[in-house]
Amino acid sequence: MRALSSFLLLTIVPAAFAVKSQDFKTCAQAAFCRRGRALSARAQESQAWKSPYSVDPSSVAVSPEQASFVAAVKSSLYPNIKFSLDVRVHDDGVVRVRMDEVDGLRKRYDEAASWALTAEPTISPDVKWAVSKKDVRATYGAKNDIEVVVSYDPLTVILYRGGKAQVVLNGRGLLHMEHFRTKATGEEKAPVDAPADDSQVVMQVNNRAWFEGEEEDGFWEEKFGSWTDSKPKGPESLSIDINFPNHGHVYGIPQHATRLDLPTTTGENAHFSDPYRLYNADVFEYLADSPMSLYGSIPFMHAHSAESTVAIFNAVGSETWIDVGHPSATSTETHWISESGILDVFIMPGPTPADVFAQYTRLTGTPALPAHWALAYHQCRWNYISSDDVRDVQRRFDAEDMPVDVFWLDIEYAEEHKYFIWDKKTFPDPVDMMHDVEAIGRKMVVIIDPHLKRTDDYPVYKEAKELGVLVKSPGGENNYEGWCWSGSSAWIDFFNPSSWDWWKSLFITEQGDKWSWTESTVDTYIWNDMNEPSIFNGPEISMPRDNVHHGGWEHRDIHNINGVLLHNLTSQALMSRTDPPRRPFVLTRSFYAGSQRFGAMWTGDNLGTWEHMAVGVKMVLVNNIGGFSFAGSDVGGFFGNPEPEMLVRWYGVGIFSPFFRAHAHIDTKRREPYLLDEPYKSILRSLLRLRYSLLPVWYTAFRETSVTGLPVLRPHWVVFPKDEGGFSLDDQYFLGSSGLLVKPITDKGVTETSIYLPEDQVYYDYYSYEAYRGASKGKNVTVPAALDRVPFLVRGGSIVPTRERPRRSSMLMKRDPFTLRVALDTSGAAAGELYLDDGETFSHRDGKFIWRKFVASKQHKDLRIKSVDLAAQRPGEAVDGVALSNYNGANDFAKDIATVRVERVVVFGLSTKPKSVQVGGKELYWEYTPGVASDTKKQGTASVLVIKDPGVGVSSDWEIAVQV
Ligand code: NOJ
Repeated sequence: MRALSSFLLLTIVPAAFAVKSQDFKTCAQAAFCRRGRALSARAQESQAWKSPYSVDPSSVAVSPEQASFVAAVKSSLYPNIKFSLDVRVHDDGVVRVRMDEVDGLRKRYDEAASWALTAEPTISPDVKWAVSKKDVRATYGAKNDIEVVVSYDPLTVILYRGGKAQVVLNGRGLLHMEHFRTKATGEEKAPVDAPADDSQVVMQVNNRAWFEGEEEDGFWEEKFGSWTDSKPKGPESLSIDINFPNHGHVYGIPQHATRLDLPTTTGENAHFSDPYRLYNADVFEYLADSPMSLYGSIPFMHAHSAESTVAIFNAVGSETWIDVGHPSATSTETHWISESGILDVFIMPGPTPADVFAQYTRLTGTPALPAHWALAYHQCRWNYISSDDVRDVQRRFDAEDMPVDVFWLDIEYAEEHKYFIWDKKTFPDPVDMMHDVEAIGRKMVVIIDPHLKRTDDYPVYKEAKELGVLVKSPGGENNYEGWCWSGSSAWIDFFNPSSWDWWKSLFITEQGDKWSWTESTVDTYIWNDMNEPSIFNGPEISMPRDNVHHGGWEHRDIHNINGVLLHNLTSQALMSRTDPPRRPFVLTRSFYAGSQRFGAMWTGDNLGTWEHMAVGVKMVLVNNIGGFSFAGSDVGGFFGNPEPEMLVRWYGVGIFSPFFRAHAHIDTKRREPYLLDEPYKSILRSLLRLRYSLLPVWYTAFRETSVTGLPVLRPHWVVFPKDEGGFSLDDQYFLGSSGLLVKPITDKGVTETSIYLPEDQVYYDYYSYEAYRGASKGKNVTVPAALDRVPFLVRGGSIVPTRERPRRSSMLMKRDPFTLRVALDTSGAAAGELYLDDGETFSHRDGKFIWRKFVASKQHKDLRIKSVDLAAQRPGEAVDGVALSNYNGANDFAKDIATVRVERVVVFGLSTKPKSVQVGGKELYWEYTPGVASDTKKQGTASVLVIKDPGVGVSSDWEIAVQV
């Protein structure tokens, strides 16, 4: 039993890591996946295969504005079953295709999209549907080059751009919406064979068409291990093929531990034999290359080629399997098989990666702008065992001059794992402890899991029970009971709106009429774990699918959405603690499309192996392109005791992850950075300081993603969509628009590495100023990678703002001066951005922030470096949803940091020694070191001009004149 094995884990470190694959289904063990794949096999075998689904031409009804249409759909194999189709084009060109069963025996779950979408999208008034006898068509787009064609018989939906098919729904005829039916009584008779011609003759035996197979495969009941799924609604799965002709690469559908460029699951040389699975699950010791499902699901897939990027979001909340194949090097076929729900597919027409990110995040929201401190370093382990332990860890960080912002408490703080309730034996003074941590602006994050110990002396459980907001067992009568950390437990049903205000009320820190968490502070933030949900004695370590949620929906219908509700409500709860609200921070393990609006995620229980370190980089990248940038993996590896070299490299990965947290299993040896011997300890100190120095870059990148949806970490294909050489790269990436190109080392014994440069441009080593020149067709260069450095380069043409004073916490850096690294490109120019606000409140939404642009440009032979107010220059744009049209450069925040200086400007790649460097006619103090590659064209050390204390503010306009 899981509970027992988890308990044993507290004392036994596993000798060798091994996923318990027997705990999780393969496609062959999931009846609806078997049926979906069998359907695909039958379709391929049958010469005469044609999708039985067609639109009834007489039913096509275009809306009065002609912007969308509905139609009746029928299946020639089930002529009495009715379906409806609804197709619309949103005002940004996204196409939404919905299909549902009409007047069926039951209702299919149709609310998945409503949990993911921020609002009901607006239908474009400019798109007109033209109805003909065989299809309905709409042409639109800025260049009028996009055409959507819905053909009647068979039903297909094709998005064309420039006359080329980009996305095809049901092109292979695998659409199948299993209608609701009554259980057949009497003897099973096999349906007759497939028709030999394309007449699609109705052939049914026992109410079943031939293409549904020879027997009722798992229609009414399904067993897995010792569990039986009662399936009271019978079969209701949904299959749809989505092809991307002219796109040879697909990316996305987190979360899987595998490569970014999704390997195939079908075809002769399929990399995986199973489809990718999306079924949120707590997979113990997961594999480092596998299509198995993990903790979260985002059914969002990009398809890419040098000419085009498109994407689809399949808004389904039930378990989904996805086959991926490449019929040719330049096209992709996918097949999506879901257990239940309606067809609700959003087609994003691109045509560039940036367009797709904008289209997707317009639907599901951009990542929330995090609190500034949340981008700093988080120190966690299972567990800091007492308040004195927490104080001691903090003291040792300070004694070693190592920066840290956040201390975390795992489940052992809670008496008998009753979350919110302190174990007073070990944490006698929680509020004092938190105040000690908060003294220099640090924060605490405390874990709150969604399972409630079933005991009436636990107010949270008692109230939930009395409020009637607990998930029910099959049949819907009794509260479900399962096993988790707290022993016999119940689960809150967040689909029940009555749970919402109640949950938020629990986090109020002030004493009121009812129970709330008064033993906490408004600076205490939250970690939501186990929200897949993880249930030790449940099927696949989760909840029985026939459990019942609010509205009578079965757990199977909403399983993948389950985790996001807790995340959403906890983040709302944190905001409602204060008036005005402060930015929340909630880490979640389980997630769905839209989770990016509520906080951060991490990749769960990774292993302390080099393979896991490497795949963690890829998983975080995939999450970034999945719309959810605030992602990281446990630094150090959750399981195991990493040797010093591995731990150092893991910090190298961590400092370049959006979410940067060290965490470890309760069985592991303590491994806080101050515990290492030299030279490792000093290396970790300098890596931590490097992360802190780059916080302005991270924060600026988060501002950008919170507005445009462009990911914080960008794989090559996102930045250079036409450069084929970068399409499969997933071990190096760009950090926002900063121009930093990072390649963390994830192998043992490495002293140098190869970095791919995608363009004919100069890139500078951040540490040594070595200049590397790329080539227009792409080029690999060899870069030093000793243990004390993470290979990362600054792209020529970038200006990187940093803060370089070592501090104990990021809050202490608030008034620290800036350094600007000006990396000149081959034409001698550069530009960069800096966004800053108070980092904690929402006052930026009232215009209290600065958004600067730094520009270096040539004027004749001279160089001018200036700072301009970007916010004032871009009145048409927004910061965190607020238009900049009324932006006032003299706002309170700008005034507050008016004295914050630029203390150093470092220019790489200037071709000759300057004659003078001046601001406003005043000569500055500067030093110039000539380089080997002083003309930026050759490889070798770049020239470096250091301008010291130029006497300019970071929030004001200025110009430095470098005369050469
Ligand atoms: C599982 C989480 O993935 C892990 O990070 C945590 O330490 C344990 N639960 C205990 O809460």
